[in-house]
Amino acid sequence: MAPTMPLVVASLLLLLFSPSLAVAGGRRLPPTLAMRRRHSPGDDHGGGGGVPDQVKYETRYYTQRLDHFNAAPASYGTFQQRYLVNDTFWGGKTAPVFVYAGNEGEIELFTNNTGLMWEMAPSFGAMLVFIEHRYYGQSIPFGGNKTVAYSNSTMTGYLTTTQAIADFAEVILSLKANLTAYTAPVIVFGGSYGGMLAAWMRMKYPHIVMGAVASSAPILGFYGLSDPYSFYDVVSNDFKSESQHCFDVLRSSRSELDKALATDAGRAQLNHTFNMCNGSKVDDIPGLLDNALVYVAMTDYPTSSGFLTSLPAYPVREICRAIDHPTSGNDTLSRIKDAMNIYYNHTGGLSCFGGASDEDPYGMFDGWNWQASTEMILTMSYGVSNTTIFPSEPFNFTEVIADCRDYTGLPPRPYWIEQHFGGYDIGNVLKRSASNIIFFNGLRDPWSAGGVLKSISKSIIALVEPEGAHHVDLRFSTKEDPEWLKNVRRKEMRIIADWLKEYYSDEAIA
Ligand SMILES: *[C@@H]1O[C@H](CO)[C@@H](O)[C@H](O)[C@H]1NC(C)=O
Ligand SMILES: *[C@@H]1O[C@H](CO)[C@@H](O)[C@H](O)[C@H]1NC(C)=O
Ligand SMILES: *[C@@H]1O[C@H](CO)[C@@H](O)[C@H](O)[C@H]1NC(C)=O
Ligand SMILES: *[C@@H]1O[C@H](CO)[C@@H](O)[C@H](O)[C@H]1NC(C)=O
Repeated sequence: MAPTMPLVVASLLLLLFSPSLAVAGGRRLPPTLAMRRRHSPGDDHGGGGGVPDQVKYETRYYTQRLDHFNAAPASYGTFQQRYLVNDTFWGGKTAPVFVYAGNEGEIELFTNNTGLMWEMAPSFGAMLVFIEHRYYGQSIPFGGNKTVAYSNSTMTGYLTTTQAIADFAEVILSLKANLTAYTAPVIVFGGSYGGMLAAWMRMKYPHIVMGAVASSAPILGFYGLSDPYSFYDVVSNDFKSESQHCFDVLRSSRSELDKALATDAGRAQLNHTFNMCNGSKVDDIPGLLDNALVYVAMTDYPTSSGFLTSLPAYPVREICRAIDHPTSGNDTLSRIKDAMNIYYNHTGGLSCFGGASDEDPYGMFDGWNWQASTEMILTMSYGVSNTTIFPSEPFNFTEVIADCRDYTGLPPRPYWIEQHFGGYDIGNVLKRSASNIIFFNGLRDPWSAGGVLKSISKSIIALVEPEGAHHVDLRFSTKEDPEWLKNVRRKEMRIIADWLKEYYSDEAIA
């Protein structure tokens, strides 16, 4: 790791944070779908919290080929790929199959949190299939042993997006063949990185998936396709939209923290104000703060949630409320502490900050760090301009690439994704070459800056919600959902119904 910037490893959905590396120095990786969460006693794991009863499925395994694109002997190796199936609502051989394109974590996390598919299945008579991404969860090549699969680049080199979607294609074809349901239309769903995979699958495998719902998929987050400062700009603007005072306090917080960290008296004061746990260092505070701010911006949902950690409804507003109306003291550091409590201690189970060691409950980081350093180089999330609530960090592509190279020991391929899947002039290209894709984006979500925000054709439709956060449309509905969110889901249903109608008419299926 290049010892330059504070390490803030983030994942597509959530920010990863590693305090030990933050001290040693490190680099910024793109936020991923995952977050390295500091577990606090008494706080349940986010993903497990409040999973509706209807999430019931059968677990199956497919013997998957190691390398789809090569005839060298090693390619013929196989591994067990896990997928989850619920066929209770399936209407039979010509009825739709809804497939979730698994992203960077164990598949249950996405199965538990993709309520839209569960709620739509009965009315569409759809089968539900959630396919785990290779190298995550239980779908580990080389005998299922994660240590072996991640031991060196010879082993990890099969972890690529093209292999992943080829896996999905094979699982789908095999499933349909076993059911002799050759004409059953397949709609692929995905959120975040999974949404990117869903959109790309529709582009690359139009004969296998008939439509795609790509939620919060930053397929334009790559070099030259989007502003490298956009991610942190959106995060900052979320806070500014709540209150200028909140923004100003957050903006000044880093220099106050740095000032305090620089003296013994300041450090003692921090230790007291933040009530750090034994064994935790006050040096972790800035990283913990960054982590909280990015994460709540991504998951600024209108209802309380437990996707990766427990949060109240509208957590950005709650953080600003804590800052604007502090309970611990009027100084900046007390306000920051109150704000961090919203994120780290929503359930009130935390007695001190930075307690247990950080963890990776959904098994995201080994894989995502590899992907983010080889081909998934989402440059939109590397630069930090000098007008945000974070310390500024000029975007330096050369340095980003050098850090990636240091991480894997391999030359990164920052242009491969745009070369293989496209991105440049995407409107005209997809208008001529593709169809049946929904791109949902919520503009509160920093990843929306890399999303497709304009409809491209009659069937490549951008649904953009100013109040929306990261793949909020995919979440289970609740009674408290605002009207705009109910409308988005209604629109998605209607669009899918139109695709199916056209499909059945074209195929002359009654
Ligand atoms: C998913 O939900 C099931 C059933 O509620 C639960 O047992 C499991 O821990 C959850 N897993 C994740 C990763 O959220
Ligand atoms: C599929 O989901 C429904 C609704 O939650 C449930 O009633 C049913 O038992 C599930 N089927 C299987 C095979 O798990
Ligand atoms: C995985 O492989 C490592 C390294 O070869 C070995 O030490 C470990 O025991 C294996 N784990 C399992 C569960 O087989
Ligand atoms: C890579 O790791 C595997 C499994 O741990 C090992 O068998 C192999 O020798 C290693 N290859 C290199 C080039 O280090």
